[in-house]
Amino acid sequence: MSGYKNFAVVGAGSTGSFIIRQLLKEKATGIVDNVVVLTREGSKTTVDGDAKLIPVDYSNKESIKNALVGVDVVISTLASTVLHLQVGLAEAAKEAGAKLFVPSEFGARTEGATEGFLGFKANIQNQLRAVGLPYTLFYTGGFADYLWTPAFGLDVTSGKVSIGGKGDRQNPYTSRVDIARYVSYILTRLPAEQLNNRSFTMVGDRKSFNEIFKEYEAKTGKKLEVTYIPVSELDARLATNPRDIYAFLHKFWSSGPDPKKENDNHLYPDWNPSPLIDHLPVA
Ligand SMILES: NC(=O)c1ccc[n+]([C@@H]2O[C@H](COP(=O)([O-])OP(=O)(O)OC[C@H]3O[C@@H](n4cnc5c(N)ncnc54)[C@H](OP(=O)(O)O)[C@@H]3O)[C@@H](O)[C@H]2O)c1
Repeated sequence: MSGYKNFAVVGAGSTGSFIIRQLLKEKATGIVDNVVVLTREGSKTTVDGDAKLIPVDYSNKESIKNALVGVDVVISTLASTVLHLQVGLAEAAKEAGAKLFVPSEFGARTEGATEGFLGFKANIQNQLRAVGLPYTLFYTGGFADYLWTPAFGLDVTSGKVSIGGKGDRQNPYTSRVDIARYVSYILTRLPAEQLNNRSFTMVGDRKSFNEIFKEYEAKTGKKLEVTYIPVSELDARLATNPRDIYAFLHKFWSSGPDPKKENDNHLYPDWNPSPLIDHLPVA
């Protein structure tokens, strides 16, 4: 049995736009039949290409159901601040006849997590399981093409970076282009029964910050000044402000649950994801 052909992507934001673009490439080659994009009423979202943009009221089940007529797979790429909307979305998708729901994960493994942001995503998963529509989770590690900003202390172009702990923990990363290719391939090529209620872990590259900065220095000939922030300092920041995303991420990268080395890359034999170093900006 072949994979799915009719898709809805919810939220064409920083992750969703890449997935929409890839699904439209698949549509151009006949692998995908139809792509619709759900957006908030009043949003300024636009989509390029052959996808229909449908404004919906997420508080109105009929509005969502109408948008999902004929859709097999609903891929949520909603922002992390509105993940609770996915429960109503999945209920409406089930009633509209969709076969599969892909919640907005696209990060570290969350199944079994009980605390913090990962615990929040795991809690949403439990609510989605109760809806009874089959689901598929995609774990990607950090976005390889998204991290190198002053907001995370990782603006390599400034010559100065800050990292939590000792910088020697290897973490997984995947770029959004490669995430979109992997998600699209798995959902369109694997038979439905291999997708239901399971997770797929993709790993584009796996590096420690010390390793990647060394590669950057070798590639550019520029020396980086690296400041190491003790985990105790990150803990103190989080105690003062639990929403401190900088402290959360650096603590997670340095001393969060150790990401498993196992992955499901082999399910897409021609994937060939780009290495992390290709995504570090060169000033
Ligand atoms: N692994 C990583 O490094 C990493 C990095 C970033 C994000 N992520 C994960 O990727 C997923 C998507 O994040 P993102 O950064 O791509 O999201 P985003 O671009 O911030 O937002 C996605 C879309 O959510 C919709 N949205 C925002 N606020 C809303 C509201 N109040 N009500 C209804 N819809 C709303 C918007 O769509 P419309 O305007 O069209 O309605 C928006 O374009 C999340 O699960 C996040 O945790 C992972």
